[in-house]
Amino acid sequence: MVANHDIDITVRRGSVHALVGENGAGKSTLMKILYGMQKPDEGTITVEGEQVSFGSPADAIARGIGMVHQHFMLADNLTVLENIVLGAEKLHGIGSAARARIKEISESYGLNVQPDLLVEEIGVADRQRVEILKVLYRGARTLILDEPTAVLVPQEVEALFRNLRELKAEGLTVIFISHKLGEVLSVADDITVIRRGTTVASVVPAQTSARQLAELMVGSELPTPETRESTVTDEPMLGVRGLHLSGRDADGLLREVLADIGFTIHRGEVLGIAGVEGNGQAELVETIMGIRTPDGGTITLDGQDVSHEPTRRRREAGIAYIPEDRHRHGLLLNAPLWENRMLGHVTETPNSRGPLLTLSSAREDTRRIVEEYDVRTPGIEVTAASLSGGNQQKLIVGREMSHHPKVLIAAHPTRGVDVGAQAQIWDQIRHARREGLAVLLISADLDELIGLSDTLRVMYRGRLVAEADPATVTPEELGTAMTGAVTGRLSGPDGGDDNGPRLEKGEDR
Ligand SMILES: Nc1ncnc2c1ncn2[C@@H]1O[C@H](COP(=O)(O)OP(=O)(O)OP(=O)(O)O)[C@@H](O)[C@H]1O
Ligand SMILES: [Mg+2]
Repeated sequence: MVANHDIDITVRRGSVHALVGENGAGKSTLMKILYGMQKPDEGTITVEGEQVSFGSPADAIARGIGMVHQHFMLADNLTVLENIVLGAEKLHGIGSAARARIKEISESYGLNVQPDLLVEEIGVADRQRVEILKVLYRGARTLILDEPTAVLVPQEVEALFRNLRELKAEGLTVIFISHKLGEVLSVADDITVIRRGTTVASVVPAQTSARQLAELMVGSELPTPETRESTVTDEPMLGVRGLHLSGRDADGLLREVLADIGFTIHRGEVLGIAGVEGNGQAELVETIMGIRTPDGGTITLDGQDVSHEPTRRRREAGIAYIPEDRHRHGLLLNAPLWENRMLGHVTETPNSRGPLLTLSSAREDTRRIVEEYDVRTPGIEVTAASLSGGNQQKLIVGREMSHHPKVLIAAHPTRGVDVGAQAQIWDQIRHARREGLAVLLISADLDELIGLSDTLRVMYRGRLVAEADPATVTPEELGTAMTGAVTGRLSGPDGGDDNGPRLEKGEDR
């Protein structure tokens, strides 16, 4: 496998340089080479005019290059402070000097990091700021961010971009990877496009467009998630009633994580839930999957009460699951693709018959998934870890859609996938919806939510506080409701009038 060849890229000091390209194009590999994690077979790297050779990340850090990975690499069971000083104890020790330095960096770039919280207790946006601070703490002057915005909601993306501009103003350099071309155009000074392992173009935002970038990347048009015809029926498929879940927060106080959650998703319906990360969406999904036990409430699947069934039974009964964190809950990274294909479905065909595993049919079916879902891989014996992030996601989507699910719980189904693959996944969800699939969709991508959903709800502090019609609602309105500023029924951009034309438009769907 040749992941990179004839790469040619120049990054100016004090600029934000974006790197774009389809899944598996070689972006992460290139960044790992610049960060000393992988050694190139040929070619040269120069930093400030001097040729360098990195044997390890330590060498790269010594040259002022730091990296925040596509999949976070923090220790959950340590505090923020411990994570930051881990491995860099020589710089400022582990005591008050370290704490002071963290505070200083946090303040000067507006990172707002709280040193004493456990990493497992903080949300993804905060984790990302910890990763950035960790890199700055080590003295980085060039920051590599691999898909930093994939896990963020719009407000958080804005905050991150403000951080990046501050870094730039201080003379730091940022290299960042993203599949969201709109963002790339708004924040980057220079853009390099990678295709099949090599650099194919260098452009500046003023002289290009999202459409042109997509064409350079994949040679195809930009997709839209829009769903035209409605396939919603009146047959309830997933029913959630009075769901309550409490938990302890960082200060040990008992609080309601989920409060009186209730909704029904019908056959052929996509229910989208919007919300800033950390408002209970993850807990809701885990409760429906049977990973968490609620304090009260019922969950019915196709008329059957599954509230007390274990996760495996729920899956066998027809719930498919695309988890929000593919590394923690979706894959065994060190296992081959075909074992990953069996994961979560070991008791079902084609993976087993009765008590016996049927490995050869599982293998064969993995080949089919790789083919149908366009998973770019040299074969099914390679480990899941060797796939690029987007291709890992395609494998998970393929696996979950292959068991004729009645309900799909999809948390950020297109996170980290390129524009081409995104269109494919949208098509697959739409197709299954026509066949009667009920979908619970959670996404930080508001265009995706609005485009795919038949019904929209907004989640805030563990409650469903607002609802909206995807035919009329705007991303801005949804964004406002996500901050808790507006509740109830959101009407179109003209506001107010329930009997106005907006309602009619809603009925058209
Ligand atoms: N350790 C490895 N072993 C085998 N193949 C690998 C390994 N690392 C990367 N590859 C392959 O190299 C190619 C480039 O991968 P890379 O992770 O750089 O892609 P990417 O551009 O970051 O994609 P994505 O947008 O999906 O994250 C992929 O086809 C991947 O499968
Ligand atoms: Mg990558």
